[in-house]
Amino acid sequence: MNLFNVYPLFDITPVKAEDVFVFDEKNTKYLDLYGGHAVISIGHSHPEYVKSISDQVSKLGFYSNSIQNPLQVELAKQITEFSNCENYNLFLCNSGAEANENALKLASFETGKSKVIAFKNSFHGRTSAAVAATDNPKIIAPINTQQEVEFIELGDLFAIEKSLQNENVCAVIIECIQGVGGLDESTTQFYKALELLCNKYHVLLIADEVQSGFGRTGDFFAFQKHGIKPNIISMAKGMGNGFPIGGILINNNIEASYGLLGTTFGGNHLACAASLAVIKVLKEEQLLENTKEVSAYFIEKAKSIPQLKSLKGRGLMLGLEFDFPVVQLRNALIHKHQMFTGSSNNPNLLRILPPLTIKKVHIDVFIDALKQELK
Ligand SMILES: Cc1ncc(COP(=O)(O)O)c(C=O)c1O
Repeated sequence: MNLFNVYPLFDITPVKAEDVFVFDEKNTKYLDLYGGHAVISIGHSHPEYVKSISDQVSKLGFYSNSIQNPLQVELAKQITEFSNCENYNLFLCNSGAEANENALKLASFETGKSKVIAFKNSFHGRTSAAVAATDNPKIIAPINTQQEVEFIELGDLFAIEKSLQNENVCAVIIECIQGVGGLDESTTQFYKALELLCNKYHVLLIADEVQSGFGRTGDFFAFQKHGIKPNIISMAKGMGNGFPIGGILINNNIEASYGLLGTTFGGNHLACAASLAVIKVLKEEQLLENTKEVSAYFIEKAKSIPQLKSLKGRGLMLGLEFDFPVVQLRNALIHKHQMFTGSSNNPNLLRILPPLTIKKVHIDVFIDALKQELK
């Protein structure tokens, strides 16, 4: 049997990893500026993380959501304390798409309405409602077109209000900083006005923090810079540092009832142990502060690259935009300099999503390699 061939693969086989480095089977060392797509938050194979998961699996790896699981309660407490998001409840699931799927479904249950407003160039995942709210016709199957979604230009308040006035809208879903789309972000004025409009028309505002959450921007959530309070916040990637876990924070004026949402694997003991270790390390090693510091250093250093057209994003969710496609540059970085970087919908943009443990010295090495390739 062959693997269903859906991924274009680099010819590299990682067999181990440590902090910001990944090693292949020949022990070649790669600098990971991609973090397995913004997933690695506290660094690969962090000892605290390995211990937490190993200890847990030797006691109890899994039981269903029909019993008491104090680890879930502890995780909810820790997320509240660390994020300062008070007055929310936590529902746990397994991935980013699943988090958004549950967020959209809940918004529809809560409002009794069904249409969704999403933004041009958005990415929210590949399940039913999440993919319908993703602005990429290539990954939307006919079965997904049953959902009613309107895509609006990021920042276009006039179009949003027009849609909210006339339509059966249950939710507006937004990535404060677009990930796959290419690191675009609107203004605080826009996000605040969007929040007001959602309140005015009784529509739920969903912040998709799947990629930008859990400290990646230097704030716990990216929306916090803009001082808004979304009704639902979805999260995943950095939450488990590679262990599959996702979740939504649900404003506590949305009422739960038995069976409204559910999952077999979501919030299992191992996933909670992974995420609790992530929070512990983020706090103890002050990785949000490190993210801000290294980011500022990166931005300063990047100014010395004459070919750079613009630098987008925040924290360690950055995009270097050139006026040429970066495909060859990425290949040279990986094969000649042993550095993983990311791509996006914007062919001219190189994405930088390293573990939040990265140091200035690694940025120096990267900028030198980049300059050599751009000569
Ligand atoms: C902003 C955003 N939302 C949702 C998803 C989907 O997450 P997953 O691949 O875990 O389903 C992604 C994945 O890249 C993402 O970047």
